[in-house]
Amino acid sequence: MREEIIELERKYVAPTYVRPPFVLDHGEHSTLYDTDGKAYLDMVAGIAVNALGYSDPEVVRTIQTQALKLIHVSNLYHTAPNARLARLLCETSFADKVFFCNSGAEANEGALKFARKWARVKHGEGKTAVLAFTGAFHGRLFGSLAMTPREKYQAPFRPLMPGVRFARFNDLADAEEQAGDDLCAIFAEPIQGEGGIHPATPEFLAGLRDIADRHNALLVFDEVQCGMGRTGYLWAHQFYGVEPDILTAAKPLAGGFPMGAVLMTDEVASTIEPGDHASTFAAGPLVSSVAEVVVGRISDPTFLAAVRKKGEFLGNLLVKLREHNPHVLEVRGRGLMWGLELDVEAKQVVEKGYEQGLLVISAGPNVLRLVPPLVVTEEELARAVRIIEGILSE
Ligand SMILES: Cc1ncc(COP(=O)(O)O)c(C=O)c1O
Repeated sequence: MREEIIELERKYVAPTYVRPPFVLDHGEHSTLYDTDGKAYLDMVAGIAVNALGYSDPEVVRTIQTQALKLIHVSNLYHTAPNARLARLLCETSFADKVFFCNSGAEANEGALKFARKWARVKHGEGKTAVLAFTGAFHGRLFGSLAMTPREKYQAPFRPLMPGVRFARFNDLADAEEQAGDDLCAIFAEPIQGEGGIHPATPEFLAGLRDIADRHNALLVFDEVQCGMGRTGYLWAHQFYGVEPDILTAAKPLAGGFPMGAVLMTDEVASTIEPGDHASTFAAGPLVSSVAEVVVGRISDPTFLAAVRKKGEFLGNLLVKLREHNPHVLEVRGRGLMWGLELDVEAKQVVEKGYEQGLLVISAGPNVLRLVPPLVVTEEELARAVRIIEGILSE
């Protein structure tokens, strides 16, 4: 069965992914099982998606109940789960309004359009430039890719969206230098994910807020990876006490169903008109009803406190690992989002992990990334670190 499926994929699926030689079949809590019945402790969670783990009873029940009622209708019509979800997201954030879409890249494309529209309405023509940062990852569509300064990702697809300037991440003086009155927006991840788990410094985010205000530009936080409880705060920027004008979210939002969201202030929303942007699938009743469960559960202060506690537990284990293992050069992260900078290729550890029943991923060539389900237990975290330690000692 395993070989058959791998062969089918090789033959019929466009080769954008390199996949390991097993086939995942089902999951329970923080553990996945392949078609041979082998268990994998999951420190990937669908790349920071499966916050409630696998087969969560409330998520499954909600899917079953809502599927019997209504799965999809066009965004031309009102539906209750969509409206209630928007209220929930606004009541638990800085935002006044939400635009829904289907992925993180789409959320950033939406944010770009809304920032351009706001700038045009409020400040006239010509205020279209965007400031983004080294190490950023905002997605693989033409606007979001233009803000993702990785040569390998950009080079084959140029020309990209023009007008993006870059400053060094966590370098306020450089950001100041690259800023200007032609900016409509500054895009930043409070903790860079794909770029190697780099948390912003408090001064940096506060400084970006100030630069945005002085140049009449919007501050956009991309919380696609670091948002929704991942850092032990519902929104990663809440740790910093710096508020954006727009926030993009996706990954864990709808429990594994595709959903993205652009959260914004009324100041931004007031410049949007019907027809400015749209999506066929976004926030249909089924997806929205699951997202209501996910956001409701994750925004519970008790849940977030548990993430912070488990995050500290994991952080301490990783720091200890660094003290004892010369291959670990640096440990970075917050909550349940951690990166280990290694002196070897992270890929080697990822591949050894498969053999030993552990799923971990890299974030760039030398950074091993841990972004487990937020419901993971301390026992599971300790087990994962023991396996990593064993691999690194080999
Ligand atoms: C910070 C950030 N923004 C945007 C994206 C793109 O999201 P998607 O893959 O859903 O388009 C990602 C994906 O990893 C991300 O980490």
